[in-house]
Amino acid sequence: MQVEIQSGNLVEQTVDALVLGVAPGRALDGDAAVVDERLLGALKQALEDNEFSGKVGSTLVIPTLGQIPAKRIVVTGTGDAQGRRAQDLTRAWGRAARAARESGARTVASAAPPTVADGLVASFRAATEGVVLALYRFLAYRTVDLPNKEVDAFAFVDARADAHTGIEIGNAIAQGTCVARDLGNMPPDILYPETLALRAQEIALANDLSCIIYDREALEKMGAAAIVAVGKGSERDPRLIHLTYKPRGESRGTIAFVGKGITFDTGGMSLKPGGGMEEMKFDMCGGGAVLGAMSALPALDLPYTVHGIVAGAENMPSGTAYRPGDILHTLNGKTIEIISTDAEGRLVLADALTYTSRLGVDAMIDLATLTGASVVALGDEGTSVFSSDDALADEILGAARWNAELMWHMPLWEEYKKQLKGSYADLRNSGGRPGGAIFAALFLQEFIEGTPWAHLDIAGPAWNTKETDLAPAGASGHGVRTLLTLLMNRAAG
Ligand code: BES
Ligand code: MN
Ligand code: ZN
Repeated sequence: MQVEIQSGNLVEQTVDALVLGVAPGRALDGDAAVVDERLLGALKQALEDNEFSGKVGSTLVIPTLGQIPAKRIVVTGTGDAQGRRAQDLTRAWGRAARAARESGARTVASAAPPTVADGLVASFRAATEGVVLALYRFLAYRTVDLPNKEVDAFAFVDARADAHTGIEIGNAIAQGTCVARDLGNMPPDILYPETLALRAQEIALANDLSCIIYDREALEKMGAAAIVAVGKGSERDPRLIHLTYKPRGESRGTIAFVGKGITFDTGGMSLKPGGGMEEMKFDMCGGGAVLGAMSALPALDLPYTVHGIVAGAENMPSGTAYRPGDILHTLNGKTIEIISTDAEGRLVLADALTYTSRLGVDAMIDLATLTGASVVALGDEGTSVFSSDDALADEILGAARWNAELMWHMPLWEEYKKQLKGSYADLRNSGGRPGGAIFAALFLQEFIEGTPWAHLDIAGPAWNTKETDLAPAGASGHGVRTLLTLLMNRAAG
């Protein structure tokens, strides 16, 4: 789905629905006033009769009864102008797009969103993201009861260049998020390390990125024995994926995104309980977010060199699986004693972070569905942010806030490091249950080789069990918008 821009007169559009924003107080100005006049005051009347609140999230569908070419009006609440944020427009236009779809509209034309303090570009960007994200569905594997209501075309009617710019940015960022959602939602029998790497190659080809794939032999040769060990129990060999984006003009610096790409996590020999195990197909959502973000870079024309690294493996129990008690030699030379084969994410990331740090990057940010403890700490919408660099953490939190992605800065307490010590090796891969997200982060920190680094534990928000305003149940693409916003902010500032 892609939002379009169109010039002309909103009220004359021959579409199934017109979207209008209305604030609390129900004052009608601009396009809304014109529409109301053509409807002989019926718009204002309907808002009053339905006690339309104008709050963000509220919508009202009104038939036009042939008074204008459009079949219906979808009114969406924009909240009070005072304190209105870009993220409010994302929600408001997401709700409007859903209300239009539910009403049966296939073609939609929208008035401009109100301009927020961040400016016109930001307003259109935010509203566009709302539309694309809210209309996303994953129907690839449905054969019956397919929904027959679908919005085929959504356009803002506006002639301004900044509107066009905002829509292009919004489309790119939201589509990148949808790439991550598609990958996350795919079943683990179809999406395994090899096919994940194939998808990455397709993304690279379509977006002019370079792509290197390391298969098991190449990983063994490299010395990435932790990735190899985690993949040993599966018939499906692991892969390390490395995409690179180079800007058209001069590069202002180099950043890397690193993702956990466990295509299915059974726990391995430290087998997980069966109930809910199907959700562990989402254990590659960090990797999905990295690939989704990489796919959006060319359209955003960002002036940075960006590496996208995904450590792909399937964690299975079998006669060839790695075991508790095994000692692994990682790429960076440290040895790890396996306590639980279910703490596999930190193992594949250990090698991936070392590999990335050796590329010589200014900063690296990893995303991983790493610990149940992060969900216990912050609930199922919050991301735990850890960083060796407070400025980087602040940058991430600022970008997350802009997008209403919930993230919180967590500690990397030196005092806890003693619990990482192995009895027979340098490190053990699991501490106790208390503070589990912190131990996982401290473990990763052992492999960053001095590179400024941040770790985002997205175990909670990587997928939704219920539909939200901006996503159906399933993979959320959480993190993509924050990563891209961070780069956009850097480029602007
Ligand atoms: N993929 C899981 C973490 C997870 C759990 C993500 C639930 C989302 C929802 C990870 O590989 C894992 O199993 N972690 C263990 C670590 C423990 C063995 C130290 C955990 O969190 O229990
Ligand atoms: Mn696990
Ligand atoms: Zn896992």
